[in-house]
Amino acid sequence: MTNKLKYFIGNWKMFGDFRSLKIIYQIHRFCTKFKRRDIKNKIILCVPFTLIYFFTKKLKSKLISIGAQNCHHRNIFGPFTGSVNASMLKKAGAKYVILGHSENRLEGETNRLIKKKIASALEQKLNIIFCIGETLKEKSKNKTFSVLRNQIRGSIEKKYNLNKIIIAYEPVWSIGTGKIPKVYELKKTFEFIKNEFKRSFKTKKFPVVLYGGSVNDINISVFSSISDIDGFLIGGASQSSKKFIDIIKNYYK
Ligand code: 13P
Repeated sequence: MTNKLKYFIGNWKMFGDFRSLKIIYQIHRFCTKFKRRDIKNKIILCVPFTLIYFFTKKLKSKLISIGAQNCHHRNIFGPFTGSVNASMLKKAGAKYVILGHSENRLEGETNRLIKKKIASALEQKLNIIFCIGETLKEKSKNKTFSVLRNQIRGSIEKKYNLNKIIIAYEPVWSIGTGKIPKVYELKKTFEFIKNEFKRSFKTKKFPVVLYGGSVNDINISVFSSISDIDGFLIGGASQSSKKFIDIIKNYYK
């Protein structure tokens, strides 16, 4: 089930300005030095819309990819105040886009809307980081698996290019709280997500599944022991180059 390639993805959320290029350069410098034959990493930073073009122009390196954090569901120019679509992201240089983040679901994004967004981003050949996860209330009612199943089936179709969809399992109760699931819970949930995806879309390959929620340079060692976790979607800790780099270093310790 395990993918050898590990993903370390930063979700900057509403953080950063032009001076934050320094953070990217520091992470890039680390990437040029951190080369081991037994390790293959993919580093992606999902930044605010305002920084995508600037960072991709300045960086000019394949070691780090730049991504966005959301997009509108239609690839047209139209009367949608404040919105940015997948085609605009692509032209700005983004290679990835986070969709279905719980912070946006909380603002009213439904499985159906997220499905349209996924379709429009795939149309632009962007890679999707599709977030799923249960709330504390759902967890306490033992509904985790049914919630995850609904989110997966409600936003993905068999006909989509499934190779371009990465799943990020982010329990809502873990985001920004310092709380993380227990190892046995993670093992069970990752096995469920991987099998559910294969079953739902009748694919031969298991999907890439990441963990997100309060990942830091200390608790990362807990996750290293779980081979089914293909990488991480890191919020707060990705806003500091030191913390982000230490997460990667400590993962392999
Ligand atoms: P934190 O790492 O700050 O808990 O955020 C996780 C997250 O929401 C990543 O998308």
